[in-house]
Parts: sequence; C-alpha cells; structure tokens
Amino acid sequence: MEIRDLDLLYLEDAVSLAQENYEMECKHVGGLPDLNYMVYFRTKLEKLFKSGNGKMAFENNNLVAYLAFGDIFNINEQGDKGATSPLFGYGIRSENRAVTIGKLFQYVAKELCEKYAQSLRINIYAHDIEVLQTYIMSSFSMDVTDVIRDVTEPFELNKCQDYIFKELNKEELKFYRSDIMEFYRGSINHLRMSPVFYHCRYFLPLEDRFDDFLSDDMRIFAAFDGNKLIGMIDSEPGRDAFITGGKGTVCMGDVFLNPDYRGRGIASQMLKYANDKLKECGIKTICVTHGTINPTARGFWDKYFQNYSYTMTRQIDSNMLGIIQPI
Ligand SMILES: CC(C)(COP(=O)(O)OP(=O)(O)OC[C@H]1O[C@@H](n2cnc3c(N)ncnc32)[C@H](O)[C@@H]1OP(=O)(O)O)[C@@H](O)C(=O)NCCC(=O)NCCS
Repeated sequence: MEIRDLDLLYLEDAVSLAQENYEMECKHVGGLPDLNYMVYFRTKLEKLFKSGNGKMAFENNNLVAYLAFGDIFNINEQGDKGATSPLFGYGIRSENRAVTIGKLFQYVAKELCEKYAQSLRINIYAHDIEVLQTYIMSSFSMDVTDVIRDVTEPFELNKCQDYIFKELNKEELKFYRSDIMEFYRGSINHLRMSPVFYHCRYFLPLEDRFDDFLSDDMRIFAAFDGNKLIGMIDSEPGRDAFITGGKGTVCMGDVFLNPDYRGRGIASQMLKYANDKLKECGIKTICVTHGTINPTARGFWDKYFQNYSYTMTRQIDSNMLGIIQPI
C-alpha cells in the first residue's frame, strides 16, 4: 500500500468511496435515508482536500482509501489547536479495513502534530467495527453518538391511560414558562452530576434557552397529569445537510420527566406521541445526538433509535507537538 498526499485528481474516486461507506452503514441501519449524497460529498471533500490535512492510500495505483481532516482551529483562548474529521472524512475499499485506517492515521497524525493540532476528533460509522476498534486501540475515546429512527417503526409500549399528551403552542409555552425552565434546569443538572460531569458552560445562562423554545422551528410535545405539566420533549430541524438536514428529518433535543413520574413508561409514550405527530406532517426520520458518557441518554434514546455514527477524541501530549527529534 502506498500513502500519498490528498490529491484533487482523485476527488471523484474519493466521492465514490464516501458513498460506498455510507451504503455499508445503511445495510445495518434501516432508518438511514436511501439517498445518493455524492453531490454533497463532492463539494465537502473538495474543501477538505484543499485544506490538505489528510492522506490517500493506493494499491496498484488505484485509490483504495482516504482520511481527511478539516482546517486546524483554536480550541480555546490559550491557542491550543485541534482538527476534526467529519463522517465523510474517510472512505475505505479494502479487505483489511483495520490495517488501512491504521496506516492512514499514522501518516495523517504525524502531519497534524507537526502543525500543532493537539486535540483530534474523528467521526466513524457505528457499524464499521474494524475501524472503530483500531481507533479505540489507538487511544481514542467515545464522546458522542448520532442515532436515527424511521417514524414508521412500531413502538411496543403499554398504554399510560392516566396521562394526556399534547403539543404546546406558543401561548401555552409562555403560560408554562416556569415549569419548562425547571425541566431544562433539571436536564442541565443531570448532565453536571456524576457520572457525566459536563460543565454545560455553553448552555448558560439557562434563561436564554427559552427564546429557542419559542422559535418557529422548535416544536414542544408535553405530558400532563390532569392540568399538571409533568414532562416535555422537543424537536427542531437538523442543521447539517448530510443525513439530518434533509427535508424529511428532524432532530429531537431535550427530554425531561418530573422525577416523581419516572419509571412508568411515560417518556416513552411522550416520544411515541411526538413521533406520530411528526409522521403526520410528512417527517420520515427523527435523529438525536447524545453523549455516550450519559447512561440515561444511552438507555432511553438507544432503546428506540439506531446508532449510525460515533465521534471519538484523542488528546496528544502537548510536549510531543511540532517535529519530533530522535533522542
Ligand atoms: C430520561 C427520562 C426522560 C426517562 O423517563 P421515564 O418515563 O422514566 O422513561 P421510560 O419509563 O419511558 O423508560 C423507557 C426506557 O428508557 C430507558 N431508561 C429510562 N430511565 C433510565 C435511566 N435512568 N437509566 C438508563 N436507562 C433509562 C430504559 O431503557 C427504559 O426502558 P425499560 O423501562 O424497559 O428499561 C427521565 O429519566 C428524565 O427526565 N431524566 C433526566 C433527564 C435526562 O436524563 N434526559 C435524557 C438525557 S439527554
């Protein structure tokens, strides 16, 4: 196998590899849209290849794999640097996916570290097991997962006869403002506590979130015990054009249930209610991005959705950046 720099001459071959990789994941995840993303991949890969942070692998002069990262950026005010490889940032057509990605990463990481990129972030298809294992063994750790659900998939649930589910309009949202903000505070506090320990600094001040809840894009589905609001789940359009950004897809965001009501299947009923309402409006798939570190999120979302990607991170020792001199 020969490793070379990214080369726009091979852009079309790389686009085909990206589409092949996506179709491989589709075989495992029924909810993924059965779409050809080659136009999207072409535009995005051209940009990545121009940034020059990546490598290509060749066998008999044919492109068999590539791995590309975006531009190197500052990750904090101290000027520490990082780089991210998106989900379409790799493609492999090879019997031995582990060896191929391992070799590509070795060459790409060398260059990234020479450019002082310390914090590396990669996205991998969830069922690309050999690649996933290679990164885990290369000291990458899981951070985030993307999950998806076809809204026509049945839910197998016991009916919660005693509870009412409904979508809240903007007036009702304002009326229940303090309950909704308490739910949101509860979600954030859940993330701050053990075993997650997210600081959540980017979600502060909490009050600012209420304006998002009022935006036209956001829909809030709620559970009531009589007149008492006991839980909510929200949805909004995805932002990325790949998978989550299509017209027939929305992303679910916050879910919260009053602690006194947990463990009786109410949140599941609320999710089913949201799923069915979204289906009525022509939505085909719903997605969620959640932290893999959060056991409640794993337990709840992964019960009803299928994982299709993992984001993994690795911090390189800050003393080992730049050109490493032999000792
Ligand atoms: C997550 C939450 C909405 C679940 O509400 P709920 O009504 O108790 O959930 P359900 O009874 O419908 O549970 C459905 C499934 O979710 C999973 N689940 C629920 N609570 C869980 C927990 N604490 N840990 C792990 N999995 C859990 C289980 O798979 C459960 O299925 P099971 O009962 O067959 O085991 C509620 O616990 C909550 O508000 N938590 C705080 C906020 C939060 O964690 N949000 C999700 C993370 S973003």
